[in-house]
Amino acid sequence: MKTEVITIDKDNIDMDKLKYAADVIKQGGLVAFPTETVYGLGANALNEAAAHNIYEAKGRPSDNPLIVHISAPDELRRLVKSIPAKVVPLMDRFWPGPLTIIMEKSDIIPKTTTGGLDTVAIRMPSHPVAMALIRESGLPIAAPSANLSGKPSPTMAQHVIHDLYGRVDVIIDAGNVNIGLESTIVDMTVNPPMLLRPGGITLHQLEEVLGDMAIDPALSGPNISDKPPKAPGMKYKHYSPEADVIIIEGSLDRVVENINRLAREYSQKGKKVGIMATEQTKQKYSGFTVISMGDRNIPETIASNLFTDLRKFDEEGVEIVLAEAVDAEDIGLAIMNRMNKAAGYNIIKV
Ligand code: TXA
Ligand code: MG
Repeated sequence: MKTEVITIDKDNIDMDKLKYAADVIKQGGLVAFPTETVYGLGANALNEAAAHNIYEAKGRPSDNPLIVHISAPDELRRLVKSIPAKVVPLMDRFWPGPLTIIMEKSDIIPKTTTGGLDTVAIRMPSHPVAMALIRESGLPIAAPSANLSGKPSPTMAQHVIHDLYGRVDVIIDAGNVNIGLESTIVDMTVNPPMLLRPGGITLHQLEEVLGDMAIDPALSGPNISDKPPKAPGMKYKHYSPEADVIIIEGSLDRVVENINRLAREYSQKGKKVGIMATEQTKQKYSGFTVISMGDRNIPETIASNLFTDLRKFDEEGVEIVLAEAVDAEDIGLAIMNRMNKAAGYNIIKV
């Protein structure tokens, strides 16, 4: 397939280029586009064949449902059976933005889009290019993250080009995304509402609107829960670079000491070692490929760098990544969720 890469300035959108991409969506094609969280791979959510092509392009298992993106709250009504009362204040507070809401689907959404489920995941992104693309196409756009299945989500067009060039019709390049981790997912078909995936909207923020919430037990890891996760996608190996990732968790001094010890042991065995450090610790390692994920006091910086950093280790040919854990509070909960999955829950407590 021939892929066109179109550059669009998010602060000054060239409407001719954007309308071209919207036409490709209308004709059932595949368009990768930026959102504020990660790049998405979009197609007409109401068109079964188009949705099917998303799974093909990504190599995604067909039971892993797609998120449907809208550009205004009133586009929600025809996509769901009914709008639960508690969803209204959620939309008011967090849309547009990185919150995905699970509701009962209406009949116009094909089951291909929802991976066979009777529920549908919906979100209204805040990125100006995403919003304009949805508005101009006049359609709800189904879009998973625009990576090959299993790889870290793309936070810049270069990642999308690396994974999907030749497999999609159009890739819109609008620079780096803002948040860097996928949206928070909340299931509003159950009572109390359940957090299925932590993300840019924190649990505390959700609780301010919803009161008490449940958390999918599967988020604590395969050793804690024997039930599969409620978001089908969370069960798959994910976010994985080619290297084996090991997370080291504990007081910062002990973490640094143990990473240095493990790094020496692995390099003596002939392995190329990479270290995921932070601004606070990056000086404390030498002789290895060290990447600072960001500032521990500004965890948003770590969120926005995480997937790029995982891909950088691949580019460097690193075989073992030793990663410092961060505090699993607020956005840190989402960071540690993605890191744990990248590591296949290979965590050493020190
Ligand atoms: O930030 C995001 O959410 C990005 C951007 C592109 O919007 N999209 C994204 O999509 O992360 P994806 O496909 O990588 O992740 C969607 C997750 C999967 O874990 C999937 O299983 C879950 O949402 N999901 C979708 N529909 C669902 C449903 N009806 N019930 C439960 N989980 C659902
Ligand atoms: Mg994904």
